[in-house]
Formats: sequence, structure tokens, C-alpha cells
Amino acid sequence: MTEAPIPAAPADAAARVQRLREDIARYDRAYYLLDAPLIPDADYDALFRELQRLEEQWPGLRSADSPTQRVGGVALPEFTPVRHRVPMLSIRTETDTTPQGALAFDQRLRNRLGLDADAPPLPYQAELKFDGLALSVRYERGVLVQGATRGDGETGEDVTLNVRTIRNLPLRLDGGGRALPEVLEVRGEVLMKRADFLRYNESQRAKGLAALVNPRNGAAGSIRQLDPRLAAQRPLSFYAYGWGEIAGWPERPDSQHAMLDAFAAMGLPVASQRVHGAGAQLLVDFHARVLGERDSLPFDIDGVVYKVDSLALQAELGFRNREPVWAVAHKYPAQERSTRLLAIEVQVGRTGKLTPVARLEPVFVGGVTVTNATLHNEDEARRKDVRVGDTVIVRRAGDVIPEIVGVVAERRPPGTEAFDLQALLHGACPVCGSQIVREPDEVDWRCSGGLYCSAQRKQALLHFASRLAMDIEGLGDKLVEQLVDGGLVRALPDVYALRAEQLAELPRMADKSADNLVRAIRASLRTTLARFIYALGIRHVGEATAKELARHFGGLQALLDADVERLEQVSDIGPVVAASIHTFFAQQHNREVVQQLLAAGVHWDESAGQPVSRHLAGSTFVLTGTLPTLSREQARQRIEAAGGKVSGSVSRKTRYVVVGEEAGSKLEQARQLGVELLDEQALLRLLEPPPAQGDPA
Ligand code: IVH
Repeated sequence: MTEAPIPAAPADAAARVQRLREDIARYDRAYYLLDAPLIPDADYDALFRELQRLEEQWPGLRSADSPTQRVGGVALPEFTPVRHRVPMLSIRTETDTTPQGALAFDQRLRNRLGLDADAPPLPYQAELKFDGLALSVRYERGVLVQGATRGDGETGEDVTLNVRTIRNLPLRLDGGGRALPEVLEVRGEVLMKRADFLRYNESQRAKGLAALVNPRNGAAGSIRQLDPRLAAQRPLSFYAYGWGEIAGWPERPDSQHAMLDAFAAMGLPVASQRVHGAGAQLLVDFHARVLGERDSLPFDIDGVVYKVDSLALQAELGFRNREPVWAVAHKYPAQERSTRLLAIEVQVGRTGKLTPVARLEPVFVGGVTVTNATLHNEDEARRKDVRVGDTVIVRRAGDVIPEIVGVVAERRPPGTEAFDLQALLHGACPVCGSQIVREPDEVDWRCSGGLYCSAQRKQALLHFASRLAMDIEGLGDKLVEQLVDGGLVRALPDVYALRAEQLAELPRMADKSADNLVRAIRASLRTTLARFIYALGIRHVGEATAKELARHFGGLQALLDADVERLEQVSDIGPVVAASIHTFFAQQHNREVVQQLLAAGVHWDESAGQPVSRHLAGSTFVLTGTLPTLSREQARQRIEAAGGKVSGSVSRKTRYVVVGEEAGSKLEQARQLGVELLDEQALLRLLEPPPAQGDPA
């Protein structure tokens, strides 16, 4: 038997392939076994693709042990192996990254099926591409009996104990009157929601413990913990997108979307963000829409997935190179990228907290160009051993501030130095020169300068003016910078002494904006006790705690008079927070600030903290345009305080639309639906509680 001779590969290609295989094997070990990735996914993907290309170009270099011949991952020897009766395959990634990538996928399928341009459009479903760890969960007669990782696609690891700790995964399926399948292997992705990840990391950092690198690694690491108690402490979620073995299910649906609908009906978590219908335009639109929503999703996604919806058509198209022909992943820009760390600077926060911040060579990540990233605190910077000159992995996902997740150790140049915050600052605050201190049981270094430190004054002022505090519209960072540096505001009460003529003299400040600002400052005088407490910027007192304090004490004086014991009686307030509040009000200068603010005219309705009239309960309001005196936030607060609800869009359920200047399309919609319109005056009248029964009229 003769075969066509395979062209011999040149020596440099062979050497490159060898090198790529070794590197990729090392990265795989670090990623899958140690949960400590060495390089960002995007870099890994590039190397992997290079290897695939070379092997395609020079078939003589192919070999069974190349990483390209494996679906991904390796099974940990510590876990019992699970053989997947239906292999867990990966999907191919569309190379055209533009929104039109879906059209290329559609065209390929139509060619394969021999459809010409006149043939009807194909049925599709588009789904999210979850960025987590693939998991197969087996139910027998509705009971969860096994959870397994993908492993190499054929054999995974038995992680049943850990899978049972995933909170949104039912241990028993809900038949809802219908017959459950004898066997159902649900496949999907286990992940950590961003909020859960942040909360977990925050608590780890507060304890001085190591934080998780990113949600995906957090999820992967938790599922592969040998001790299920550790897994249980990590907040995991699961989303189903497919299935493996199915047996004994007479009512088995015949499309991808109906299958997922059936899963959802059984109580399995299925993401609501998916669409199905005919033709590729649906996929293009989904790609664009989800890209816009990406930051506001509760979890990370790295793209979308397109699938042929009809299961009969899926079967006809089948598999090729261990990948389904009927599905493709369409990726979004990476949320982790590597770049160079140019310098480490230290920022001073509102309470004097010193945060090391990395200055970076600009890098496009998560849809924006990032030049700074937080290092959180000294311990964390040291744990990651981040050094100036290093190549670092930067992550930006959601609206969260970018952070450094790790260092690419092998690209460290010679002569770098370990990070030492105290040495870097010579023991002094970089802004005011006051001594820096770190209490023994604290994670953070702080500037001891208090409000003497202009950085702390600026942050305090920004916080005071912020939307949930005094809500002074227009008082943003640029202006705060000018006001504090120019000596116009030394302490918070100075804000209320600002005059329009003074403000108009500031650079880039027009007369009109100066007037507007003065008006906003004046409007902020009328507030609530909760906002006022929050605005003071007491350490550990966030918006929720401030509300609780206002509700508990009902008035300011009672709060000022409270001792630690009394403070601890407030719900959700522990010894640390109580001590912080007590210390704050024990300082003479803080009491003076409070008195001066009241003297400047800050006021609220003390009875507002008490049970108030809920006379607007059941009424939904929509706000549109700019109101003459109330900001949107103030209007919302007052409507809610009276029991009403504020919604973002007009519908038949809307009771009133409050209309200000330059009202938009909502006014038009209100007119069409015949919804009652109110101006600010009418709203204020409506907000007045009706006279109590028995009161003289
Ligand atoms: S379908 C036979 N759908 O992305 C097709 N995968 O290679 C199996 N993933 O390993 C995959 N979201 O772990 C599919 N909606 C989705 C997905 C999804 C995330 C993961 C999956 C797979 C990888 C793609």
C-alpha cells in the first residue's frame, strides 16, 4: 500500500511545535491541576491556535500526545474517575469576531446541507457562553446521584459531594405532574456570580487571607476541593445548557430550546437570556444585544453560543474533529489580558486607607482601555509578588474596577524588587506627609492625618455630595479637586458658604453651571436623617447601616447621645461598627462639623424616621425630564417613603407620570395610555400625608 508522501517539516517549525507543546502542557498543569493560571486565556488561545495551524500545515508533525488532540483538562488522580457514556465535547470558536460571525456559521451549515439561497432559513437558538467549569450532573428518577467534571472529555472526576453544595442546583427534580426521565445527565457550567465572588474576596481580604484570582478559577477550584466543607463555603451557581445520557423519557422534546425549557420546568437553573427562531439575523442581533448587557449580567460570560435548534437537524449535521458541526462559540473581547506594570503608586482614600495602585501600559480589556488597576492592599500585592517591570494579568469584568490577578512569572526582568509599601512611602502619607500606621489586626495602612490630609478631605467631600448621600448634582471629582486645592472648602460645612461668583471664577466653570451648582447645593439642605448620617462618612457606616440608625434612633440627638451598648442594640450593628460610630461622635471636631452643617440649614423631617403615612402604597410613578427643585433621586426617595413605587417605563400599570423640563418619550407614552400627568408641585401636594381620621379638616 502506498500513501502520498507527507512533506517533511522544516527544522524551525518542528522546534516551534515542540516548544509550544511543552509550554501548553505546563500552562494546562497550572490551570487545571493547580488552579493557578500562568498566562491569560487570550494568550493561551493564541498559542494553542498557532500550534493547531502548524500541525495543519505540516501533518508530519502531528502526534497523538499533542495538546490539540485532547478536549481539554486532565483528571485529578485524587478523585474517582467517571467515564462519560456520552463524551463531553467542546465547541469550535468562530474566527470572525465581528457581529457578522454568525452569518459565516450559517453559510457553512447551509453549504453542508446543500441548501441554496432560496431554501428556507435554518432554525437556531442563541445562548450565553458561560465562563466557568463544565459539569455533568446525573439524575436518576429525578434524584441527583452524581456530579462529574469534564476531565479529558471521556473520563472526568467524581465531584458529587461538592456538586451537592451548589445552592441553585436541585437535589431532586420537580416532575410537576409529568413523568421524569429515568436517567437525565444535565450538562452545564458551574460558576461564581460576580457579586458572590466580590463578597467572598472582600471577606478573605478583611481577614488577611488569600483572595480568589477570578470567578472562573474560584468555581473550578471549589468544585475540585477534596474537602466538600471548603466547597460549601464558596458560593457557586450552575446553569444548564445541554445534556449527556438520557433514558426513559417518553415526552422528550425535539429542539434545543424546548429541551432547556423542560429543564427549567423541572427546577433546573437555565439562564433566561436566550432566543430561538429562524435565520441567522436572530443570532447577529443576540450577539450585539448581549454585548451591550454583558456588564450588567450577574456573572461573567466570554461570548455567546449559536446552536441549530432542531435536534433532528443537529443529528444530521453531526460531529467533526470531536466538535459538533451544529454549534459554534462566538467570543467577546477578553476580560483578562497581560500588560506591563510601569509603576506602583499609593492612593489615599476617604478614611485614610492607603491603596497600592498599579500604573499600566494601556491595554484593551473587557471592552475598555485600562491604565490603572488596584492591588487592594500590601499583603495582597506581596502575596501575588507584584513588582515594577513585571508582565501582569489585568482583569476587568462588569463595572468593577480593574484589578491585577497575577504575574507572568517567566517574563520577569532581572533586578526587580519586592513591593514594600512602607519603604516606598518612607513611612509618610504621599499627600500630606503625616505618619502612616497599620494596626496589628488590620490589613490596611492608613494616613494618620485625618482631615488635615487634603486627599482625605477630597474623598470626604465627594462622598458627602454623592447621590445616596446629600445628592449634590454637579459636585464631581474635578470640581472637588479645585475646591479643596484652592482652599475654598476646608471642611464639609464650607460647601454651604460657596457663592456663585466664587465658583464662576474657577477654570472651566461657566456662570450658568455655577448657578446650577449653587441651586443644587441649596436643594440638598432638605434631606433625610439617614442620608445625613451616611454623608458624614463614618467608617463602616454604609447606606443600609445609616438607614437602620435613623430608623432606630428616630432623631439625631438620640444618636449623638448613644453609648456603645445602645449602638449595639441596633439590628445588624456589631461591636466594630458600634465602636466606630461612637468614636466618631466622641471627637469634638466631628460634633462641630455636625453643628455647623445644621447651622448652615441642613434639615430633615424628624418624623420621617418614624412610621410615616404609606398613603401612596400601590401607586406606580414614572419620572421624566428635569424637575425644578427635586433631583430624581430625591423624588424617588420621597415617593417610596410614602409607599409608592418608581418604575423606569410607562405601562398600563403606571398611575402617574411626573413630568419635568425636557421630558422624553415617556411623556408621549403616558399621553397615549391616558396616564395622569403631574408637575413637581402636584407631586409635592400628593406627597403630603392626608389628614389623619378625626383630625379637624
Ligand atoms: S455547548 C456539544 N453551550 O464552553 C456541545 N457550551 O467549548 C457542548 N459553554 O466546554 C457545549 N456556555 O463548557 C455549550 N451555552 C453553552 C455554553 C457552553 C459555556 C462552555 C462549555 C464548553 C465550552 C466551549
